Amino acid sequence: MKVAILTISDKGSRGERVDESGKILQEMMKKNGAEIVFYQIIPDEKRLIAKDLRILADNEKVDLILTTGGTGFSPRDVTPEATLSVIDKEAPGFAEAMRVESLKITPNAMLSRAISGIRGKTLIINLPGSPKAARECLEVVLPAIPHGIEILRGEGGECAAK
Ligand code: MTE
Repeated sequence: MKVAILTISDKGSRGERVDESGKILQEMMKKNGAEIVFYQIIPDEKRLIAKDLRILADNEKVDLILTTGGTGFSPRDVTPEATLSVIDKEAPGFAEAMRVESLKITPNAMLSRAISGIRGKTLIINLPGSPKAARECLEVVLPAIPHGIEILRGEGGECAAK
């Protein structure tokens, strides 16, 4: 599985904050056998986020893009809007599951506007920005990612026949 990690943070992109979340996501994905082919910290700019998402899906053809940060209520939080502007289809189950499970941990889970969707054969999942939240949310969605990617690649079995 080829994975790209995009940390979206104004402070991180200026070197004013260490990107713990990006590191945690890389470690977790590697432990699960993924190859991290791209990692970058970019500011909360809709145009830049959308551009990276398009390049990673269309040119690099990664299987999965995990974004972390920019899903909340701050005026600069535009990760969901950038993601919506590039996806062909929503895949809402990932974002729904993250919120359902995260609400068992903190009511603040309601404050993440994260979305998940598909561009071409690439799955894009927004995760919240704090290291704790990013880890908790990735743990929730990890189990369903490999099968989703298999189906996107056209390698999935016939689920309906099971
Ligand atoms: N989800 C989980 N599992 N754990 C958390 O601690 N924090 C919430 C929420 N989702 C949290 C969580 C908080 S406090 C916010 S503001 C939103 O994610 C948005 O975070 P972001 O703006 O960093 O993306």
